[in-house]
Amino acid sequence: MFQNLKPQAPDAILDLMVAYAADPRPERIDLGVGVYRDAAGNTPVMRAVKAAERRLVETQTTKTYTNLSGDPAFAEALSALVLGDAAPRARLAAVATPGGTGAIRQGLELLRMAAPDARLWLSTPTWPNHPAIARHVGLSLRAYRYFDAATGGVDFDAMMDDLAQVGPGDVVLLHGCCHNPTGADLTPLQWQTVADHLTTRGALPFVDLAYLGFGDGVEADAAGLRTLIARVPEALIAVSCSKNFGIYRERTGLLLALAPSADRLPATQGALAALNRLNYSFPPDHGARVVTTILTDDTLRADWLEELDAMRANIRALRAGLATALRDLTGSDRFGFLGAHRGMFSLLGATPEQVAAMRRDHGVYMVGDSRMNIAGLSPDAVPRLAAAIRAAGV
Ligand code: LMR
Repeated sequence: MFQNLKPQAPDAILDLMVAYAADPRPERIDLGVGVYRDAAGNTPVMRAVKAAERRLVETQTTKTYTNLSGDPAFAEALSALVLGDAAPRARLAAVATPGGTGAIRQGLELLRMAAPDARLWLSTPTWPNHPAIARHVGLSLRAYRYFDAATGGVDFDAMMDDLAQVGPGDVVLLHGCCHNPTGADLTPLQWQTVADHLTTRGALPFVDLAYLGFGDGVEADAAGLRTLIARVPEALIAVSCSKNFGIYRERTGLLLALAPSADRLPATQGALAALNRLNYSFPPDHGARVVTTILTDDTLRADWLEELDAMRANIRALRAGLATALRDLTGSDRFGFLGAHRGMFSLLGATPEQVAAMRRDHGVYMVGDSRMNIAGLSPDAVPRLAAAIRAAGV
């Protein structure tokens, strides 16, 4: 039977991890998968996470199954962090999922269950796993323009032109903040415009929120999403705790579904719980419990926010440093967008040939579309990266 299996399409991000690990050059630079690294190149366990884990080890008395939708306290704490009071609790269904990817997958399966003919609109470009999962689930895809390569910013006119074709029952996937791969985000006013447009068209927003706190801070990063949620009748939100709690391998995520009215909540919650049962039964609990412990303890929460702020400041400093180094080398401001972008990633705007040349000649590993994980860069590698970008003629 297995002879029928075909080779899988390569994963641009994960294949890069393997290629980087196999490269013997000590000075190589890893700008691939989205993980935060400190100046020494480590991805630390955050202080509050360590403290919460210690507490759990000491106080947890059982590892028996939890709720099929995950621990309700986790949904409560994380949805409050993300949404504040923008959404009425009585309309909010929630399930814990294995990471943000699990939340995307469950959300897309929910759509297929509710509206198998729904068209899913994705930004060009987007995280490659969005179309991959959507195709696997069997949804039909549409693309909307998003990024203006000339300015490094959002091409909002083009985006709205394309979204003018969105119809009732369509679903539009938006990045909550720190757009992956471009680093270019919507302004608060643009969020409002999109929210009102989708509501008028009868389309449903599906927001992927994987980098809360990596842009301008938790509250600022959540502002656009909260504006949208307060204005739309229905929505899906996939939340990841991988990056902002640094618990990548614990697979900690949450899928939120805003139901159109409180009487639709039981059916929505029931469908989400059933999807958990069908796909993996109970969601992973350890990371979720760590997050809940942190968010519900004033001291741990303050310490977590302080460390997250420091991580964000480091990323901002790396962005500014790289933009300055490129300005000094090229004598132009055309890389200034690197400083204006938010979050882990920036799309450099290099051709695939230039990306390949940087890898071959300088050991610089970025994704083929020229996405760079700035959060993985160490400060002492900034001049070498700038020189490699310059040498490749970007
Ligand atoms: C990324 O885009 O690098 C991250 O979201 C990690 C992943 O799973 O691709």
